Amino acid sequence: MAVSVLPQIKDAPAMNPVERLMAATADDMARVNELILDRAKSHVDMVPELARYLIDSGGKRLRPMLTVAAAQLFGKGNGSAINFAAAVEFMHNATLLHDDVVDESDMRRGKPAARMVWGNKASILVGDFLLGQAFMMMVETRDVDALGVLSTASAVMAEGEVFQLAKTGDLSTTAEDYAEVIRAKTAVLFEAACVVGAMSGGADEAGCKALSLYGLELGNAFQLVDDALDYGGQSGTLGKNVGDDLREGKMTLPVILALESATESEKAIIAAALGNVEATDLEVHQVVAIFNRYDTLKRTLEKAQAHAAAAIEALSSLPDSEMKTILADVVDHSVNRAA
Ligand code: IPE
Ligand code: IPE
Ligand code: MG
Ligand code: MG
Repeated sequence: MAVSVLPQIKDAPAMNPVERLMAATADDMARVNELILDRAKSHVDMVPELARYLIDSGGKRLRPMLTVAAAQLFGKGNGSAINFAAAVEFMHNATLLHDDVVDESDMRRGKPAARMVWGNKASILVGDFLLGQAFMMMVETRDVDALGVLSTASAVMAEGEVFQLAKTGDLSTTAEDYAEVIRAKTAVLFEAACVVGAMSGGADEAGCKALSLYGLELGNAFQLVDDALDYGGQSGTLGKNVGDDLREGKMTLPVILALESATESEKAIIAAALGNVEATDLEVHQVVAIFNRYDTLKRTLEKAQAHAAAAIEALSSLPDSEMKTILADVVDHSVNRAA
């Protein structure tokens, strides 16, 4: 009866921006997911077992949604967006498999990382398989320009991870070094995901440029938040262990800013925990207490907000549409996330 339906609609919780993005891209994402499952197949059993373990454990699918959303934003889809979206998620998952080996992380997406189940060697090799499959999906589109964008992103991401590795435990790492690391390892894939979506949607040069900047700035904001959450988040919500970055010796912005202002004794406390895989929760808490003294988590999140504002601003030259509003709102949601 209409009378009883009305209050239900009124009381229904409003969808958050990511849910709106999911709803707006649901049809395309169903095709992307089908393609993802199909291309994870192999006659070598360990490949789909390990790949499906990671793929089926969820993940936000933010990057492929951005690809199909960017294509929809410009409207003239040529069908390649599905392949690009699946390729982007494969690139991301390959990076996660490799990243967890490099970072010696135990947890991913709320479960033991694949390397804890199959070992480091299998994780690296299946990551390589996914990367190969990603490139095959790109080649099938015959779109050499988009292939160029994604292969550049692949190389730059690896470079970013290597640069980060080279800076591990290096107390002289600067905020500029960090900005370069997060641009390369994270933001460039967000940028590429958006640009190839825009390209396959028929965007002109200005449209591609807008989406490029949007993706880059969203990616920068996203990684800054990830790095703040590594100290201030909850493992249960995050699906990965809090405090890992410190124990790994990762020179993220909260540490860099703290070292800029810390006293000699505070520096010694940070240095003792940094890169110490045996550091206790208490030692991590002591470091976080120093961060709080200098507001470094807050300042990291403020930096994320500045990038978020730049991402939203990048969309301003585009005509208004429902999808544009969703993309802008997704930025705010991503910087205010807890997971
Ligand atoms: C994790 O990315 C890697 C970072 C860039 C911080 P996501 O948080 O998007 O990971 P999933 O795909 O949702 O698990
Ligand atoms: C991002 O770096 C990983 C990449 C996308 C290369 P992190 O090492 O901070 O990511 P998490 O925290 O393991 O997800
Ligand atoms: Mg990691
Ligand atoms: Mg992290």
